[in-house]
Amino acid sequence: KKQVKVGLLGLGTVGTGVARILEMHQDDLLKQTSVEIKIAKVLVSDLQKKRSIELDADLFTLSAADIIEDPEIDIVIELIGGIEPTKQYILDALDRGKHVITANKDLMALHGTEILAKAAEKGCDVYYEASVAGGIPILRALVDGFSSDRIHKMIGIVNGTTNYILTKMSQEGAQYEDVLKEAQELGYAEADPTADVEGFDAARKMAILSNLGFKVDFDLNHVDVRGMSNVTAEDIAYGKKLGYVIKLLGIAQRDEGCIEVSVQPTMIHRKHPLASVNGVFNAVYVYGAAVGETMFYGPGAGELPTATAVTSDLVTVVKNMKLGISGKSVVAPYRETILKTPEQ
Ligand code: NAP
Ligand code: HSE
Repeated sequence: KKQVKVGLLGLGTVGTGVARILEMHQDDLLKQTSVEIKIAKVLVSDLQKKRSIELDADLFTLSAADIIEDPEIDIVIELIGGIEPTKQYILDALDRGKHVITANKDLMALHGTEILAKAAEKGCDVYYEASVAGGIPILRALVDGFSSDRIHKMIGIVNGTTNYILTKMSQEGAQYEDVLKEAQELGYAEADPTADVEGFDAARKMAILSNLGFKVDFDLNHVDVRGMSNVTAEDIAYGKKLGYVIKLLGIAQRDEGCIEVSVQPTMIHRKHPLASVNGVFNAVYVYGAAVGETMFYGPGAGELPTATAVTSDLVTVVKNMKLGISGKSVVAPYRETILKTPEQ
């Protein structure tokens, strides 16, 4: 094939970034794949909306079927978010033999097993690097980089919105509501920011990290979640006096078959490397039995960083198509379930 056609479901913050990167970096992408990657259709919910990127008006549609049922479209990129109708769109696309890329952690944390099983059955690729820690290629690192190791602990700042809020409250004395509004305007927050500030978004990401890092089928319901909406300016000032900063931390650890995953606001000593992860930046510490301690750092949300992860997945999918290995290098759902969780 000289050309691969892509259907974009969603042209919001991340979808716009993907369209921009395909445009900006097309020569580099072509060099790597020898294939022209073309956006063939774009699903949106409002055809009249003013867009920050110019695309041909005839690419836009209000009907997902125009993409999912188009035999010429090889790859579907889901950037709408939420569970429905996206889950059905993805399952329908896989049923028709299309490869899928998504940034949707809600969906992959809750229904990843079903989606990956369908992909394996249909011989299709499903990649979801952008679902955790935005521009940091942490899923690839867990799956490929640490394939020979046994990871026993991961600690992460995996939500950009709350880290942005906590940083501005701590460094500039900003008000919680004002900074949350700013994070929404910058495109960092979820459609319903409750998911960010109450820790659910971080919990979903920690569940995905646990699945891939510990190689188990970890149930999202077992994450113990506390958000940061109750953290006050006084808490932050008090911590500062003692030499600590407050961060919303996700902690996942395994100990003899027991896996514990939690998300909570945590005081960290100002000299700890995680204490200097500020603004929309994320970081994930990975502790492996053989490798020891490693830390991954980078932008955790926003248009271009997140779109980088999505578009790199796209390059992988196109390369897999060319090599005839679609659906073969995808991590199938892990069947081993946890023997023991703290609640049992
Ligand atoms: P967004 O800006 O709200 O964009 C959502 C897009 O989906 C819009 O183009 C919207 O159409 C379209 N849409 C919404 N509901 C639809 C429906 N029922 N039918 C058809 N189209 C619909 O969202 P986003 O920030 O790009 O996030 C997309 C996904 O990426 C989410 O899963 C999110 O969690 C994930 N993610 C986001 C970030 C980030 O920094 N923003 C980072 C990592 C992962 P209109 O444009 O017509 O309104
Ligand atoms: N709302 C999410 C965050 C987007 O702030 O981290 C990136 O997943």
